[in-house]
Formats: sequence, C-alpha cells, structure tokens
Amino acid sequence: MGASPLRARNAFTFGGSMISRREWLRITAGGMAFGVAGASRLLALAPAKEATVYKSATCGCCKKWVEHLQAAGYKVTAHDVPDINVYKKKYGVPDALGSCHTAVVSSGYVVEGHVPADLIDRLVAQRPKDIVGLAVPGMPQGSPGMETGAVDKYEIIAFDKAGKTRVYARRG
Ligand code: CU
Ligand code: CU
Repeated sequence: MGASPLRARNAFTFGGSMISRREWLRITAGGMAFGVAGASRLLALAPAKEATVYKSATCGCCKKWVEHLQAAGYKVTAHDVPDINVYKKKYGVPDALGSCHTAVVSSGYVVEGHVPADLIDRLVAQRPKDIVGLAVPGMPQGSPGMETGAVDKYEIIAFDKAGKTRVYARRG
C-alpha cells in the first residue's frame, strides 16, 4: 500500500526531544523541496534569539542582565511591571526558585533570574520536552548582571511542569 508519502510527511515532524543545529538545517533544507508554504512553516519554528523580560522598573541588576542577553545576541523586549510575582505564577516558576525577574525566551522556555545566556542557548538548541525553564534562585554574586566583584558558587536549576527540579549546570 502507499506507505511512502506518509513516511515522507513523518520525516518532517519534530517528535524527538533533542535536535541539533545541523539536524535542524538539514530538515529545513529538506522542507524547501516541499514548497514555500511548508518551508516557511518550518522556518517559523527555528529558534530565534529573542527574549521578553518582566522586571521592576527600579531593579538595577535586571537591567544589567538584559544587557548580558543583548551582548549574547538576544533581541530583548523588557517590560517594567508593578508586580513581578504575577509573571512567576503565570509561567510556572516554582516558589522556591524565585529571583528578581522572569523572562520568556525563544521556543517558549521560561528563564527566572540571572541565568547565563550560553545556558539558555543550550536549552533552546536541545529543546528538551521535559523542561519548562531554567532558574537561578535568589541573586548569587558573580552571576550575569550581578558583577559585584565577589563570586558565589551557584546552580542553574531546570524545572518541569509539575515543579520538579534538577541541577542543569553549576557556575561560580
Ligand atoms: Cu537581580
Ligand atoms: Cu533581575
């Protein structure tokens, strides 16, 4: 029976949780052969370096973290909001992981606090399905935007939909 058209279509779905840049380019290039509509739909899924940040107007370290993201190539839209806790709830940040700002980056991942940009890049490139976002709880000294001269050891924590956490990386 006509199995091959079905198989061809399945080749362009994104079932896997890990997709490398090279794989991505291969798939996207493959999409081109199937016409402009299909290709542009695939391109719309490409991880652009964009971030929307919710912070309070008076927070200096938030502003410095935004500059850290921009220096790493992110196009940042920053919103000064009266109550940052509203956004932590809205985006499912576990209470224990709270920091001074909440961001939503490419592919919808949530970023809480002073998370290093290279780890956001890694998360977006790997596209894990079991991670909602990354958090650096509190405001460790020496994390991006918290350059005080002192350097704390700190953990970057991944959290899932149920609020389950694990250490994603260590810095400091
Ligand atoms: Cu801060
Ligand atoms: Cu902040």
